[in-house]
Amino acid sequence: MVTMKWKIGDVEIDNQVVLAPMAGICDSAFRRIVKSMGCGLIETEMVSTRAIMHMNSKTQEMLMMTDYERPIAQQIFGSDTESFEIASKYIEENMQPDIIDINMGCPVTKVAVKSRAGSALLKDPDKASDIVETVVNAVDIPVTVKIRSGWDENNAVEMAKTIENAGASAIAIHPRTRHERYDVKADWSIIKEVKDEVSIPVIGNGDIRSCYDAKRMLDETGCDAIMIGRGIMGNPWIIRQCVEYLDYGKEPERVSSKEKLDMFKRHTELIKKDSDNPKIIAHKLRTNAAYYMKNLHGSVEIKKKIFQTETEEELFDLLENYVKTLKY
Ligand SMILES: Cc1cc2nc3c(=O)[nH]c(=O)nc-3n(C[C@H](O)[C@H](O)[C@H](O)COP(=O)(O)O)c2cc1C
Repeated sequence: MVTMKWKIGDVEIDNQVVLAPMAGICDSAFRRIVKSMGCGLIETEMVSTRAIMHMNSKTQEMLMMTDYERPIAQQIFGSDTESFEIASKYIEENMQPDIIDINMGCPVTKVAVKSRAGSALLKDPDKASDIVETVVNAVDIPVTVKIRSGWDENNAVEMAKTIENAGASAIAIHPRTRHERYDVKADWSIIKEVKDEVSIPVIGNGDIRSCYDAKRMLDETGCDAIMIGRGIMGNPWIIRQCVEYLDYGKEPERVSSKEKLDMFKRHTELIKKDSDNPKIIAHKLRTNAAYYMKNLHGSVEIKKKIFQTETEEELFDLLENYVKTLKY
């Protein structure tokens, strides 16, 4: 099997590995790390269309992207066509991403119930269709949509057809309903059902934790690309492992604790380049440190200590000393 170049609209994508949008995780620093591992398509975290209309410095920082991350899709979420139209025009003009992605999967109560955005749109195909059509007409770049398989029942095929007819250039599917949250295994057969019914590219998502899972999803569903979320947190190497395994069957190599620490140091430099807010930096460093050390021997104890550190120096002393105690 060879990873295929593919396209969304006229945007060329070099391989079939896509970074999933993850709020609070996929900032530009994280995305640059992921890109350095050869990720074919990068997604940002979601940003609210209303927040874009009432722009402040926090939203501005969230929207920051670099050319290095291209091709990149900016994800937005909202519930009314007016704010989608204004936000998507603003993003196209000012941020110039390659693609705009609409979130129709977020299960979080504040988003889905209080604001009737994210996965709530799966209950209302007409409204979802209006939103897609509005964004497609507002911008010149391709528009994609990411869905869950339904609100409380699977209506993924109906939604996918609706979204395709409204003019979207690709669809990503995370095959769990909003009701299922993360409590059940992602049902990849739904990805196949969607792939069989639409002609735009389909990106499969859910529970990919290794290059073997990636290949299995491509084989079982026929999807055009695979999207990885949680499996990348603290483990960006999974991207390169997927690309190489799909390309020429290269078996993944184990990543040492020293390599993990070095990657965390690189990641730290990028985080510090992007922000001058000490609180935000400290939070991001501790969170990412815990992800990078995850699954190493004794990491549960170290995680607690990571969150007790008060300075960057303390954090790095802790990690250096910890890694020295590990055999690999
Ligand atoms: C911390 C976190 C934040 C997420 N934020 C978003 C988001 O902003 N937009 C979105 O469409 N999905 C979001 N998701 C869902 C993921 O994109 C993905 O669909 C889900 O995690 C399943 O894929 P995985 O098993 O590879 O993690 C988020 C998931 C996590 C764990």
